[in-house]
Amino acid sequence: MILRPDPSGDAREPESGTQRPVSFHTRPGGSFNGTLWVPGDKSISHRSLMFGAIAEGTTRVVGFLRAQDCLATACALRAMGVRIDFAEDGEVRIEGAGLRGLQAPSMDLDVGNSGTSMRLLAGQLCGQAFASKLVGDASLMRRPMRRIAEPLTAMGAVIRTSAQGTAPLLIEGGGELRGIAYDMPVASAQVKSCLLLAGLYAQGETSITEPAVTRDHTERMLGAFGYSLQVVRGSVSLRGGGRLIACDIEVPADISSAAFFMVGASIASGSDVILAQVGVNPTRRGVIDILRLMGADIELINERTAGGEPVADLRVRHAPLTGIEIPPALVPLAIDEFPAILVAAACAKGETVLTDAKELRVKESDRIQVMVAGLQACGIDATPADDGMRVRGGRLRGGVIDSHGDHRIAMAFAIAGAVADGDIVINNCEHVATSFPGFAVLATGAGLNISEQVCA
Ligand code: S3P
Repeated sequence: MILRPDPSGDAREPESGTQRPVSFHTRPGGSFNGTLWVPGDKSISHRSLMFGAIAEGTTRVVGFLRAQDCLATACALRAMGVRIDFAEDGEVRIEGAGLRGLQAPSMDLDVGNSGTSMRLLAGQLCGQAFASKLVGDASLMRRPMRRIAEPLTAMGAVIRTSAQGTAPLLIEGGGELRGIAYDMPVASAQVKSCLLLAGLYAQGETSITEPAVTRDHTERMLGAFGYSLQVVRGSVSLRGGGRLIACDIEVPADISSAAFFMVGASIASGSDVILAQVGVNPTRRGVIDILRLMGADIELINERTAGGEPVADLRVRHAPLTGIEIPPALVPLAIDEFPAILVAAACAKGETVLTDAKELRVKESDRIQVMVAGLQACGIDATPADDGMRVRGGRLRGGVIDSHGDHRIAMAFAIAGAVADGDIVINNCEHVATSFPGFAVLATGAGLNISEQVCA
């Protein structure tokens, strides 16, 4: 059986703030089987638009993630005069405007729930000759933006945040940027990418050192667009003023979306799935390593390179899991996968300890607090810490979960529904469409007992 997500509605434009509430309802007894095609990688899809927009020539993207977050980036770029076509066959074509070809938008750039859009576009916008304003939904307007505003200011940009260091971001534009050497205090690919995008417009060299390895899609994609950059262990640098030349991009399936099915298949007896063409970039595959340390049976088959990124099919079979101390070095390599990993911990024998994960507090929700509350609601012994949590594996009961509008919390508890003793009801699931349109349909096809209710 081969299952692809239902693409209906995929091409919808983002509708910040106008979504109708969605809830998921799971019943016990599911398992996961078949070959599953999860949608394209969100990080790579965003970058394909942003780099394609300032390249010379037409960039063609296959496997693009047509989810609300990436469509928010597309809308912002279209508002700056970039032509982006979503073809019926799924290909996305971006007519590059060249490094200096973006035009002043006549409106605020509203990027909805998408932190990647806001932080990366901010870097790009600081290099423009015009002023702009970035806004988002209630969750995004709470997230920290000083981490980009401070180094961008050091580069000579004029960028203002609220008094709390959050959006709206007001960017003056028109000034001259100069390259800086920046030691990032937090391990963040969004900050690194923001500064590299600004660096394209800066005089001299922009050089960034990261405290821990973070996803390197920006570096890889700049290379694919023919831009020269130097990457030496832990730091990346480039000089401004070069040219990006349009290219063809193949987007692999998103390992962050595949993670829900890796965990689902690991915990639900009778499961045996193949996740097709998943991106297994070494800077993203922490989830595989962590689950394997817990005893998961994950096999990488057909390993190959597509569009400059390593991909593989992942075969995942049910296996008994054991709690572990999660190695801190793996945390930035699995930063988006902890909602799923913590569900695996709840189903494992013994205790799992997560530390060095304070960043989880400033994601789409405070994922430490929201995961602890959700696990406790399902009868699991979970204790929060400032930078992580302890989870003692046990029997999951049914319960009611508030996802706090966080897509990954919603999907993690949906997967937990396969092994819970009772029904799990998850509220505020509408944001699942930001990264994984068609999740409930794909999960149903794979064998999860889940229904999706759209409230009036
Ligand atoms: C992303 C980087 C990560 C990740 C986010 C996507 C990216 O954020 O959580 O979902 O595409 O660069 P941080 O860089 O803030 O950790």
